[in-house]
Amino acid sequence: MADQYAPPLKNGQPEFIPAIRWEEPPEGPVLVLLDQTRLPAEEVEWVCTDAPALVQAIQTLAVRGAPVLGIAGAYGVALAAVRGFDVDEAANALATARPTAVNLARGVERAREAYRKALEDGAGQDEAAAAALAEARALHREDAEAARLMAGYGLELLDELLTGGAHRILTHCNTGALVSGGEGTAFAVALEAHRAGRLRRLWVDETRPLLQGARLTAYEAARNDMPYTLLTDNAAGSLFAAGEVDAVLIGADRIAADGAVANKVGSYPLAVLARYHHVPFIVVAPLSTVDEDTPDGAAIEVEQRPGHEVTEFAAPQAAAGGEPGGGIPLAPLGTQAYNPAFDVTPPELVTAIVTEHGVVSPVTADALAELCARGRQE
Ligand code: MRU
Repeated sequence: MADQYAPPLKNGQPEFIPAIRWEEPPEGPVLVLLDQTRLPAEEVEWVCTDAPALVQAIQTLAVRGAPVLGIAGAYGVALAAVRGFDVDEAANALATARPTAVNLARGVERAREAYRKALEDGAGQDEAAAAALAEARALHREDAEAARLMAGYGLELLDELLTGGAHRILTHCNTGALVSGGEGTAFAVALEAHRAGRLRRLWVDETRPLLQGARLTAYEAARNDMPYTLLTDNAAGSLFAAGEVDAVLIGADRIAADGAVANKVGSYPLAVLARYHHVPFIVVAPLSTVDEDTPDGAAIEVEQRPGHEVTEFAAPQAAAGGEPGGGIPLAPLGTQAYNPAFDVTPPELVTAIVTEHGVVSPVTADALAELCARGRQE
């Protein structure tokens, strides 16, 4: 098996630049990211030679989305180890770069543990660094495989729940190859439906304020020749009312033990709308996003982002994180903004959670615990 997920080839060339890859040029190993703040205008790479650069990439959303944050975190630890930096210092900074997606800290811990264990077993520094890198690569491969399996289970579920041959799916934020070692989570299901000739329309929420839907999901949908339409987040209600949505598919940043789902802010209102309109609300996420140590939705830490992301309009590379005052004002100077990056949908509004180990529906703490236990055994 290849070391890393290999993107599909078109005319012998990779069809797209992967979200993340490890490279070993003569100057020394680097982690190369596709800078998501520059999409869709330009495909620019962000080259990290140390963990602080990666922390900055994570905080400015150059790399973002739960599964790939886990992969990035693991490679970040490997990078620190291979380049002889303080591994614990790097791991601590990476694990806490953003708080909500549990995958980040998990990926970091996997690589740190591999490094530690190798040292405990008598390995030298180089060998221990190689162990951390091997762990990051394993996580990358596993995530690609999880994406493939979720796409299959997700499409089966859609076919089961929906009558009619082709589905109109509403999605929020960005959940495709940009967030994954493979083809993503919710987006991968829509893509699978498209490839099977069963996607009638992908409705893409623009996802205020950083526009992950407009900039990234529309980019991925276009790249895959999918039938898609962009809408402002607040147009979703009228779309449901017009009977134009067959299912909502979203990803997750953290799923609590009771099945509560933290995902991009704006997901919870979609769940409420979906329930009112009797439309399935489906969450697609690998088991690495399920956090059995977080008992319920109230215990999930939701990242609060700077207000200027809401009160100003800036190019995304300046908007995410950047300095206030850099963009076109959308509100009077000094306006306070409420800008949580995520919201939490209670389990009773979630029709199903699709994972690489199967589907949980109805969503209960017991069913989720059982799936996690099965996942650990397989
Ligand atoms: O702030 P972001 O862009 O990192 O938020 C990402 C999301 O909310 C995604 O929907 C989530 O990580 C799931 S990705 C499979």
